[in-house]
Amino acid sequence: MLFSSKQFTHCAPNHTTKATQIAVNFIRHLDQMRILFLGDIVGEPGRKAVINNISSITTKLNADFCIVNGENSAGGRGITPKIAKELFAAGVHVITTGDHVWDQRELLDYLPNEPKLLRPINYPPDTPGNGSVVIDSKFGKIAVLNAQGRTFMNPPLENPFTIVEDEVTRLTKDGVKIIFLDFHAETTSESIAMGFHLDGTVSAVVGTHTHVQTADERILPKGTAHLTDAGMCGPEISVLGRNVESVVWRFKSGLPTRFPVAKGPVRLCGMIVDIDPDSGKATHVERYNNLLSPSEMS
Ligand SMILES: [Fe+2]
Ligand SMILES: [Fe+2]
Repeated sequence: MLFSSKQFTHCAPNHTTKATQIAVNFIRHLDQMRILFLGDIVGEPGRKAVINNISSITTKLNADFCIVNGENSAGGRGITPKIAKELFAAGVHVITTGDHVWDQRELLDYLPNEPKLLRPINYPPDTPGNGSVVIDSKFGKIAVLNAQGRTFMNPPLENPFTIVEDEVTRLTKDGVKIIFLDFHAETTSESIAMGFHLDGTVSAVVGTHTHVQTADERILPKGTAHLTDAGMCGPEISVLGRNVESVVWRFKSGLPTRFPVAKGPVRLCGMIVDIDPDSGKATHVERYNNLLSPSEMS
């Protein structure tokens, strides 16, 4: 046996998942930081599911820190100050966004005054808000970064590879060891390339934006945890969180169509990563994938 029992804490398996069962590692080294990341929250169903369950989920997983991507939490388009405050009050530590960050105009006044709500870091320098934040934790300082890819993405932003690299260099010089990046990108190649680009210099790189969880979680050769896309927190019976019939009709007819957010049971998708605070390296990574039960939805 490698470790004494005192070094570990145990948490119960969290899953009520019916379609997909992924075993969460329920043994955890207490001197390592566990981060739960949840992908794009879609509309009221996703928002309510996260707000109502995040406290119990982090308790069951024994997670120390929670990051969510909230770019679609307001009716599928952007995030409002009210929603951001509700997510923080529910236990979320940092909210990341992406290409939908400006969809709700009221955010323009709120974003510069809430450092824990991020927009992509590779906007021009005078853009309101920040793409990086450093927070004190019992494991030391943790930096959360948010960047946006450039392949098939709008608006076209500055080069995320160079800008994130510069920010990581600055953070490392400041003594920050735990660095987590939400890379909001359309293509799997750009997301994977970012993971390897930062391998060994950050703790974790997780992709968002496609709303579809990939099955490639791994720790890269130099110690960075990577998942190409975390997936979304939204209605299970949907097309990327939107009403099925509307999207199918759009593809079939080619006509302009509104895409309301779908209803029904919600699946929460994301990533769990354990990090050694002394080295900043990841020691464990897995997907989080949980179809909520009816009682968890009420
Ligand atoms: Fe997006
Ligand atoms: Fe999204």
